Amino acid sequence: MEIVIRDDAAAVHALAADIVERCVVAGDHLGGPVLGLATGSTPLGVYRELGRRHREEGLSFARARAFLLDEYVGLPTAHPQSYRSVIRDEFAALVDIDPTAIDGPDGEAEDVPAESARYDRAIAEAGGIDVQLLGIGTDGHIGFNEPGSSLVSRTRVKTLTEQTRRDSARFFDSAEDVPHHVMTQGLGTIGEARHLVLLALGAGKADAVAAAVEGPVSAFCPASVIQLHPRVTVVIDEAAAAGLQLADYYRYAAAHKPSWQGW
Ligand code: F6R
Repeated sequence: MEIVIRDDAAAVHALAADIVERCVVAGDHLGGPVLGLATGSTPLGVYRELGRRHREEGLSFARARAFLLDEYVGLPTAHPQSYRSVIRDEFAALVDIDPTAIDGPDGEAEDVPAESARYDRAIAEAGGIDVQLLGIGTDGHIGFNEPGSSLVSRTRVKTLTEQTRRDSARFFDSAEDVPHHVMTQGLGTIGEARHLVLLALGAGKADAVAAAVEGPVSAFCPASVIQLHPRVTVVIDEAAAAGLQLADYYRYAAAHKPSWQGW
């Protein structure tokens, strides 16, 4: 794992955008880049920065495909808080990606297990995800793999914790409107992406980040499964790094990053 502590949210977003840009440029020469997109508030600044690079620097997503991390079950796709709507408005609208090249679990599917299996197949048929952006929940979830999730799980339905529903209430008119169920890429699915980029901002994420990065690998903190992945970049601000015992070493390692080693 590479753990990068940046001064503020803008610097976190800029580095994550650098990683996505490198993937998009490299992928253009191959079969086309495949991006894994998270929602929630943390990555929105990354999408805005990628939109700026598209407008001002000509960064093109024309050959990119994208897969969403998760989706609410039972929320109409047209609802403004469905993750398909969020990605359409907060990412696709800012760049030149083909909207039909964006896939996500269908939260309105009648047969949820069949839709989950279709989704894992679609990711595999696209050749797998090159760069997967991840946020982290205050309870240590990635995607919506809540505590207790199997570390090798596939895309499936999960029940949100009350804590996650409270955390998500700010996106809805009231806390009761937050759906109880989601379809999420499993921890095994996420682990098949070639590069995981986990982002966290703010003091509210400090405990979850410390557990994910320095705690035991355990279903108690699903994000800790990233420790088993060969290529992970954790990009966090100072406040989210507050619980890390080895923060000084991570800063030292970043300051002495070999010049030949890119992101
Ligand atoms: C969203 C997702 C979640 C969020 C997490 C953090 O697609 O999969 O894991 O990344 O709940 O949310 P924010 O960024 O709003 O704090």
